[in-house]
Order: sequence, then structure tokens, then C-alpha cells
Amino acid sequence: MKTQKPTRNLALELVRVTESAALSAGRFMGRGQKEVADKAAVDAMRLVLNTIDMDAVIVIGEGEKDEAPMLFNGEKVGSGKPPQVDLAVDPIDGTRPLADGFLNSIATVAIAPRDTMFNPGPFVYMDKIAVGPLAKGLIDIEAPLKDNLEKIARSENKSLNDLTVVILQRPRHEKLIQEVRKIGSRIRLIPDGDVAGALMTCLPESGIDALLGIGGTPEGILAACAIRAMGGELQGKLHIRNEQEKKLGLEMGYSLDKVITMDDLVSSDDVFFAATGITDGELLDGVRYTGQGAETHSLVIRGKTGTVRWIYAKHNIEKLNPISEIEY
Ligand code: FBP
Repeated sequence: MKTQKPTRNLALELVRVTESAALSAGRFMGRGQKEVADKAAVDAMRLVLNTIDMDAVIVIGEGEKDEAPMLFNGEKVGSGKPPQVDLAVDPIDGTRPLADGFLNSIATVAIAPRDTMFNPGPFVYMDKIAVGPLAKGLIDIEAPLKDNLEKIARSENKSLNDLTVVILQRPRHEKLIQEVRKIGSRIRLIPDGDVAGALMTCLPESGIDALLGIGGTPEGILAACAIRAMGGELQGKLHIRNEQEKKLGLEMGYSLDKVITMDDLVSSDDVFFAATGITDGELLDGVRYTGQGAETHSLVIRGKTGTVRWIYAKHNIEKLNPISEIEY
């Protein structure tokens, strides 16, 4: 409706969640303590999430509920007031690089209307192909790789050897890497962090044209929310690790061979996404602790309007710590 007044942009509230997680987790850069860093990020996220007016159910969280007070699947967060939403969180995408002091670790969250996000069930991994808006509608994860790359190249008016493809550096991708090399496209291998890798396909300034390969299913759903908002496309197929996973999935009613489309991953355009850099990366700068406080760099995206914001924030830790439940 043309007469609609500007409405609430939840992503602007979500960025405080990812900033808080990044500020807390950033303290653990290079300290070799993955679990401690993760707990710091989770605690910081929960604290801010619960201040937001929303009735959110965590669909993508830190696994099932156990003794640890993590952000578990099925947990309700927010004030309990409308809107009713699904929430995906990844307090640290790139726990390993953070613990080791490497690049590309981010804190990220996404929100979509209730019952619109894919529930990955027992499936930890998903095969993925992600592209930006120009190649939307042209890719097919089941088609030969060369067909997909040719379509992507044509959509961007490029040749196959102009394309840059992001792939997680894993032994399972050796065959894929050989195939891409044979086709002649360029490869950006990333040690971790395929949420950022997928998102970059929608940001032409990144120089990334596609993401390919097997990565986390939760990360796929988070990336899908941002990619949907920016007009690109992500397709997936469940990657089954063993017979037990297969049996469980079939019992739960998953059809294992089905292509998981954009609509399956998140079926609404009314999505909100935020991410903040923890360590420096191609997509986002990491947290800088200055003498006076700290600086963060974030990406904030709203699906309904397609607005993409980059936010540099200066945080005054001297003022924050005395009034905050957690220590930054
Ligand atoms: P975590 O930091 O949450 O462990 O994820 C890092 C990551 O690189 C993801 O970005 C990616 O989807 C996944 O791990 C790939 O899994 P694996 O490291 O087992 O290959």
C-alpha cells in the first residue's frame, strides 16, 4: 500500500544484540578458549534479546536444551509482546578463528514471522549454492556445476574465468575445487564462516559471485534470511552424515533428496538480519578496543524495504559496565 507509514525496523534493534555479543566475545580473541568465548557471546546476546519487544521462538539456536543456559532451540526470548517471530542465532560464526586469533569471525542473528523458517532437525550439514540478485532464478543445485557457473557468468556479463567462487577449505571439497579449476573460475577458499561467504554474493563490491559446497545447516538458514532480503538466492540439499541421521530424519518426515529452496529456508520477505564483526574479515571489521572503549562494525538488513545499513559504533565501556549485567 502506497500510503503506508514507515514501520518498525527490528533489525535496528537486533544490531545491539550482535554488537553486544561481539564486544563480549572479542575479548577472547586468540585466547584458545572456544567454550568460554561462546558463553560470553551467548550471555550477551540473551541479555539484549530479552529487552526487545517481540515474542520470539528460537528455531536456529545452540542445539537442544541441556544444563548450560545456552540459547537453545525452542527457547522463547523477547518481552513476549507481539510480533510473533522465529529467531535464528549464531553468537559466533567462526569460533575456531576467534579462539586462534584468525580472520572472519562474526556474531549474527535473523528474525522472520512465526513458522516461516526452516527447521533443520537433526541435519548438521547442507550442500549450498548461493548467488546474488542477477543470478536469482537461474541456478539449480542439481544441475551440473558448469551449467550453473555459465548461467551466473552470463547474468553478470562476465566470462567463466572472471567469476570468483567461495568454498570452505575442507577435504570434502577437494573434488569440487578440482572441478571449478577445470572450468576456469577463480576460487576464494575460506577456512571458516560461510554465512559471510554467502552474503558477499549479494554485495557486488565484495567481488564474490557464488558460494558453493557443504557447510552448516543453521548457517545456511541465517544466510538465507539475509540473501532473501537482498534479492539473491540460496538453494540447499541436506547432507546426510550417517545412517542414524538418515533414519532419524526419515522418522521426522524429512524428504532427504528434496532441493531446499529459498521459500523453504525462509518463506517471508519480512525478514530482519544483523551481523557484527568479532575478528577482522572481508565482510566486517572486527572489534577494536580503544583506550576509551570499543568500536564495532555491523551490517543491518531489512527484507521488506531492502535497506542495507553498515553501522560503525563507538561504545563507551566506562559508562556501559557500571550499568550492565555483563562485563564488556
Ligand atoms: P562455528 O563457528 O559455529 O563452529 O561455525 C564455523 C563454520 O565454518 C561455519 O561457518 C560453517 O557453516 C561450518 O563451520 C562448517 O562446518 P565444519 O567446520 O564442520 O566443516
